[in-house]
Amino acid sequence: MTGVICGTGACVPERILDNNEIAEFVDTSDQWIRERTGVEQRRIARKETTVSMAAEAGRQAVKEAGISPEDIDMIITATATPDQIFPCAACEVQKELGAVRAVCFDMNAACSGFLFAYQTAQAYIASGICRNILITGSERLSRIVDWKDRGTCILFGDGAGAALIRAKEGKQYLPFACSDGTGGAALTCPGHAGDQKTTSHISMDGREVFQFAVRRVPEAVREVLKKNNLKTEDIDWFVLHQANRRIVEAAAKRLKTEIEKFPMNLQKYGNTSSASIPILLNELNRSGKLKKGQKLILAGFGAGLSWGASVLEWGI
Ligand code: COA
Repeated sequence: MTGVICGTGACVPERILDNNEIAEFVDTSDQWIRERTGVEQRRIARKETTVSMAAEAGRQAVKEAGISPEDIDMIITATATPDQIFPCAACEVQKELGAVRAVCFDMNAACSGFLFAYQTAQAYIASGICRNILITGSERLSRIVDWKDRGTCILFGDGAGAALIRAKEGKQYLPFACSDGTGGAALTCPGHAGDQKTTSHISMDGREVFQFAVRRVPEAVREVLKKNNLKTEDIDWFVLHQANRRIVEAAAKRLKTEIEKFPMNLQKYGNTSSASIPILLNELNRSGKLKKGQKLILAGFGAGLSWGASVLEWGI
């Protein structure tokens, strides 16, 4: 038994904040941001919340999968920016969707959140405990960004993505995941997003995080390929966490694989943390680029530090 993605969805806020607007309040320029990161614009939540975006993305995924909300056994919401401490975002998503039978919990592994939620869902399916699992990655990073820090505020954006994973007969691929708490100081946010009184913000050693990503992402891809007896040539699409164009390009180069197999949409959304992989997956799915039977690698990395990768066969 394995889990196959049968539906995807995404929801991003209406408000677009482009680089030129950011240059009005911090000392930066559109050119600098594009050259160093690839980001051109990002979405900023106004009325949208972590839950409302996750629920909308989830609704789309459930609809595409052709199941009813009562068929969902579990909802996992990956988020580092829940609207409140509890009830968890996943329970709120359950309420919105009417997924009355689902067991629900959140997962915070920062930008690796969606990947780890995917791997957790696969484990629940492989063990026979669940048949239909909705995983969502949803973030309102704009609430924890320091809008005076040009080194970080240019990078992040808000949004949500979702995937409905369904049990089917088929090959089970082994996951690869790693964490290193000793490196955690490179990317932190000490307060809680729900605490209005906290002035805590994202703080980052950009160069250190860059080097970590460029080293660990190709390593994770190689590890997961080795575990599953596959080669880079066997993979049709490498769906990487969307943090920086230069990180994706460096990963492609180190893996000696053409950049065309590494789709990107970070130019439109910036780094949406746990939402970036499912938003990209949804775009690839809805545009018809993914073909049934193609092999994908999902690779995540971020605060923790944490990183990992999974292989999957596209099933829609
Ligand atoms: N606009 C203009 N100049 C900026 C700037 C901005 N937005 N941000 C930083 N700079 C300046 C720095 O102050 C520095 O100036 P100095 O040389 O006078 O000190 C110079 O640009 C170079 O800074 P540096 O940090 O070396 O730039 P960089 O090429 O490493 O790019 C990042 C900075 C943040 C874009 C890059 O390090 C990065 O993307 N890191 C990974 C971040 C990430 O992905 N985090 C999330 C992981 S999940």
